Amino acid sequence: MDRCNCNAPGIGAEALKAEILKLKKEKNAIILAHYYVDGTLQDIADYVGDSLALAQKAAACSAGADVIVMCGVNFMGETVKVLCPDKTVLVPDCEAGCSLADSCPADAFEEFIKAHPGYTVISYVNTSVEVKALSDVLVTSGNARKVIESFPADAKIIFGPDRNLGAYINSVTGRNMLLWDGACHVHERFSTEAIVKLKQKYPEAPVLVHPECKRPVVLMADKVGSTAVLLRYALESQAKDFIVATEAGILHKMRKEAPEKNFIPVPPADSTCACNDCAYMKLNTLAKLRDCLRDGAPEVRVDPALAEKALRPINRMLELS
Ligand code: 13P
Ligand code: SF4
Repeated sequence: MDRCNCNAPGIGAEALKAEILKLKKEKNAIILAHYYVDGTLQDIADYVGDSLALAQKAAACSAGADVIVMCGVNFMGETVKVLCPDKTVLVPDCEAGCSLADSCPADAFEEFIKAHPGYTVISYVNTSVEVKALSDVLVTSGNARKVIESFPADAKIIFGPDRNLGAYINSVTGRNMLLWDGACHVHERFSTEAIVKLKQKYPEAPVLVHPECKRPVVLMADKVGSTAVLLRYALESQAKDFIVATEAGILHKMRKEAPEKNFIPVPPADSTCACNDCAYMKLNTLAKLRDCLRDGAPEVRVDPALAEKALRPINRMLELS
C-alpha cells in the first residue's frame, strides 16, 4: 500500500463535496462506502452497502469506471482490487485496518489449517488477502448461513476468524464448525447490561444485533444480521423505537430512510461515549477522499499471484450468494 497523504487544509464541507464531484468526473471514478463510515461520505458515495453488497458492486463495476474509491477499511479495498485487478483502487486512509482481520495472522492460520487435515476452510471476508488465499470459500455476515448450509451437514469445517459470528452460525445451523479465536473489538464492547438499561426506557423497542457481538448480546436480539439486514428490518418494522447494537455509522442511513423512527445506539460497556464507533472506519473523511482522488493515492496494491489465489474463494462466495 502506498503511503498516506492524509492532512488536507481545512475547508468547508460544501466546497470539499464540490471538489470531490469534480475530481470524480475528471478521473472517471466511482465511490463505494460502507455503512460504518461517516454520514458525509455515505451521502456523497455512488453506492453504500454492507460487505456483501460492496463486493457484488465491485464485481459488477469491472467495466465503466477507471478508478474505484473504497471508503471503508483496507480489507474491503483489497477485495475490490482482487475483483477488479485492472482498475486503480484507492482508499482515503491506508491506516484503516481492522482488529478482526488483525486477530488472524496468515502464518498462524495456515498452521491451524495444517493441524486439521480434511477440513474445509471457510473465512469471513474481514480478513487479509493472505488469509483469503488460504480459504476454500469466503462469507460475509449477510450470506454466512446460506454459504455454510450449502455444505453437507456432516462436513468438517474450520471457520475463521470471528468466533462470535462462527458461534452464531453454529447455533442456527446445528453445525459444529471449528472456530478460530478472533473477534472485532468494536462489537465485543456491547454488553447485556447496557441493553437491559435501554430496554427499561424503551420496553417495546426491538433489539437489532450484529452477529459479531458476543453470544449473550446476540441472545437478547429480536433481529440478528448484517448491517443491510438490520437496516431492512428497521425500515419494514412497525415499531417506533429501535435499540441498535452495531457500529454507530449505520444509524445515519436508518435515520435518513426513516426520519419518523427513533434509533437508539447501544453505548460501549467500558466508556462514557453514547455511540460505539470503529476508529478505523472513522479515519475516512471528506478531506481525505478529496485528496485520494486528486493524488491517486493511497492506492491498494495486491501481489497478482496472491490475488489469483484469493479470487477463487471470493468468486465461490459470490456464486453461492
Ligand atoms: P457487514 O456490513 O457485512 O454487516 O459488515 C460488518 C463489519 O464489521 C464490516 O467491517
Ligand atoms: Fe473491523 Fe470491527 Fe471495524 Fe468492522 S467494525 S472494520 S470488523 S474493527
